[in-house]
Amino acid sequence: KTRVFSGIQPTGNLHLGNYLGAIVNWVAMQDTHECLFCVVDMHAITMRHDPKQLAAQTRELTAALLASGIDPQRAILFHQSAVPMHAQLTWILSCVARVGWLDRMTQYKDKKGKDREGASVGLYTYPILMAADILGYRAQAVPVGEDQKQHLELARDIAIRFNQDFGGGEDFFPLPEPLIQGPATRVMSLRDGTAKMSKSDPSDMSRIAMTDDADAIMRKVKKAKTDADALPSEPAGLAGRPEAKNLVNIYAALAGKTDADVLKEFGGQGFGVFKPALGELAAETLAPVTARFRELKADKGALDRILREGAARADAIAAPILEETKRAVGFLRG
Ligand code: TYM
Repeated sequence: KTRVFSGIQPTGNLHLGNYLGAIVNWVAMQDTHECLFCVVDMHAITMRHDPKQLAAQTRELTAALLASGIDPQRAILFHQSAVPMHAQLTWILSCVARVGWLDRMTQYKDKKGKDREGASVGLYTYPILMAADILGYRAQAVPVGEDQKQHLELARDIAIRFNQDFGGGEDFFPLPEPLIQGPATRVMSLRDGTAKMSKSDPSDMSRIAMTDDADAIMRKVKKAKTDADALPSEPAGLAGRPEAKNLVNIYAALAGKTDADVLKEFGGQGFGVFKPALGELAAETLAPVTARFRELKADKGALDRILREGAARADAIAAPILEETKRAVGFLRG
């Protein structure tokens, strides 16, 4: 089976972008691939965070992933800081990656904003930790949303350079394939059709959280920014209408249909008709996930046990690869 790795940050609530862009794909791969899914708490401390909340958020995200259909019997589910490889391999790969490569990372530029003095060094080297996550398990494929594409290219560049410099030209690390697929690889904000839906957007109205109840979902969808025109009857008519396109795309993803199908049904209708239909569909789809989430979240002991077992299984894969890597760069091993 092809080995797959993917990660998600325990910052803020899981939202519809994470769900449709990543988690739905993860769930679908559990039988066909050897899957490692990781709550990346080490990535979560690259931005200012509250230490009192991080552990709780790590558990909560674990509960949300389980509620969405990740099955610890069929996939390895664990948190990053519990497996020592991630930090150790990051150092080695930091000495392989080039400053110029990191300078080109757009997410760092966006997240640091104008505040170079205030941005942590970890925020800058974030993509190297991400490369270690993937390469440290010799993962062959990485299902992600569109926004992670550049980071994946960097991970491939690091693997290529490592293989050349220390791998004797062999595939010491296989080059990980990005899998950017599924119903919605880039879900946009409900307030701005040109910005991605994100945990860090200060406006709660910009995203549908996996924990929102039916009322909250309906309210957010009804308040979503749109233009005043009716929906077109074909996808080509969505050009230049990012908000309309996003809502149609969300509807299609939730319903398991194409944009064209959705427009066949709603073409010619205004948002007064489309928004309530979308709100209802979203609430209906998320209700069972939310209900399971609430149950799972309450049992901290069970969540900790799942993570502990996942970490042990992950470590069993990572430790020998890390050992080989240390030998390859010339560290003295007893
Ligand atoms: P994170 O936590 O920001 O997001 C988790 C996953 O959700 C996807 N995603 C979206 N997809 C579609 N539309 C959106 N609006 C949207 N927002 C988020 C992301 O693409 C991602 O797949 N650096 C990563 C976590 C990570 C990782 C890794 C991923 C750490 N190590 C190794 C893959 C492999 C991140 O911050 O994702």
